[in-house]
Amino acid sequence: MSKRNIRIFDTTLRDGEQSPGASMNLAEKMEVAQALVDLGVDIIEAGFPIASPGDFEAVREIAQNIRGSVICGLARCNDADIDRAWEALQYSEAPRIHVFLATSAIHREFKLKMDQKEIIERAVRGVRRAAGYCSDIEFSPEDASRTEVDFLCEVIEAAIDAGATTVNIPDTVGYATPAHMAGVIRSLIERVPNIDKAVVSMHCHDDLGLAVANSLAGVEAGAGQVECTINGIGERAGNCSLEEVVMALRTRGDYYQADTKIHSKRLVPTSRLVSNITGLQVPRNKAVVGRNAFAHEAGIHQDGMLKERTTYEIMRPEDVGFAKTDLVLGKHSGRAALADRAKALGYHLSAEQVQHVFESFKVLADKKKEVYDGDIAALIDQQIHDVENAWSLVTYSVSATMGQVPSVTLTLQRSGEEVTETVSSGDGPVDAMFLAIEKITGITTVCRDFRVQAVTVGKDAQAEVNVELEHNDRLHRGRGVSTDSLEASALAFLNGVNRVAVHQGSPLHQASPANP
Ligand code: KIV
Ligand code: ZN
Repeated sequence: MSKRNIRIFDTTLRDGEQSPGASMNLAEKMEVAQALVDLGVDIIEAGFPIASPGDFEAVREIAQNIRGSVICGLARCNDADIDRAWEALQYSEAPRIHVFLATSAIHREFKLKMDQKEIIERAVRGVRRAAGYCSDIEFSPEDASRTEVDFLCEVIEAAIDAGATTVNIPDTVGYATPAHMAGVIRSLIERVPNIDKAVVSMHCHDDLGLAVANSLAGVEAGAGQVECTINGIGERAGNCSLEEVVMALRTRGDYYQADTKIHSKRLVPTSRLVSNITGLQVPRNKAVVGRNAFAHEAGIHQDGMLKERTTYEIMRPEDVGFAKTDLVLGKHSGRAALADRAKALGYHLSAEQVQHVFESFKVLADKKKEVYDGDIAALIDQQIHDVENAWSLVTYSVSATMGQVPSVTLTLQRSGEEVTETVSSGDGPVDAMFLAIEKITGITTVCRDFRVQAVTVGKDAQAEVNVELEHNDRLHRGRGVSTDSLEASALAFLNGVNRVAVHQGSPLHQASPANP
């Protein structure tokens, strides 16, 4: 029996980006979109065009430039949203408009103040308007899992009649359980007379840790599309994790009789890219892509593995993209070897970018004998994260003695102009550096998170610092990498402050409509 193909709809750039502090700039979104195409996702939800000019621009750029996947934009069921979504999507070779409207009693009564009849009319009008622009239309009854099943069937039938080609069933608040979700999907398939004219889709949130299980239950009951995000990032506890649902279907194809078109060897590189770009770290024990996902510690397991791998391993690490060995380059390696490694890691670098990365690689290789994949990724990510027209670190000197107030003299540069400040205050040298950066840039923030970790192994490993800075009720992240952890801290803080500056000066960030 041939396996059913399950479409993978990735919403990392829309629902995923709604994770606090995870917002991405245009260059970062383009990088992620290309990585999603390389991964083989069927549909990329690139954003919510009416939410902000920045969202609009990102969807338009992705629609214009990214080829190989359907490009989707989100819209509420109203003319302005749908028109704006089409304006952004119109240049895509394969555009999809995704319209949504809440259907549950709670949302009808308290949020929309509409009765069931009005909901159906609004949904039909929205789907019809979208279908006037393109043929690929998805409709989502928001909070479907808490909607009365009879009413859900009515709305779905009306939406398909109006032109919806995919009907998505969101568990918006992560309330469902697997048997519940399977029951909803089964009811729709049995009771909606025109259901064969649309693909049924799952969209599950992870508030109870059940997003993947609920999505799989929906697939088992007949759904043909799963909506998910890389590393499961998203609003609150996040969305269904792409890598987990894909590998569950592949590893247990015998049971589900279904598979996806995902190139599983790209899972780890894509996970790492999204983690580096968003600053949301992947837990070590995360299924499929966590650092420890294939680490066998117990002696009995190691013994079994040596005798026969399948005694304790259900997937091969290389099949999800873990490199067998990642010791790669040294100080005598050339530009071509670096470019080749960057490509294998999933980056698309221009000749100019390769040159920049190569220059930093040479400096690093002088300090560090062995340059690992993780080091190369960190160097490249540093470039991607760089904010244009921003302050850069020139130099600093620190004087710190235990129990005494530290002193820092630090120089930054912007547009060729250098500014130096000395600060003699703070809890320690890192705090004093942050204060000096704030003094020069004139931007004051509250540091909500500060994390240091080694990029690879060994005493000479590079330190990676991630910070989360709060400014005007918004979180901005910053990241810095160096063999010197003080320098990495200064770079991370400066990267965060530069992002605040871009946000402040940019007309792209105006009040956005309430996010779904
Ligand atoms: O969770 C949700 O209900 C959504 C919809 C917009 C599909 O994200
Ligand atoms: Zn959602």
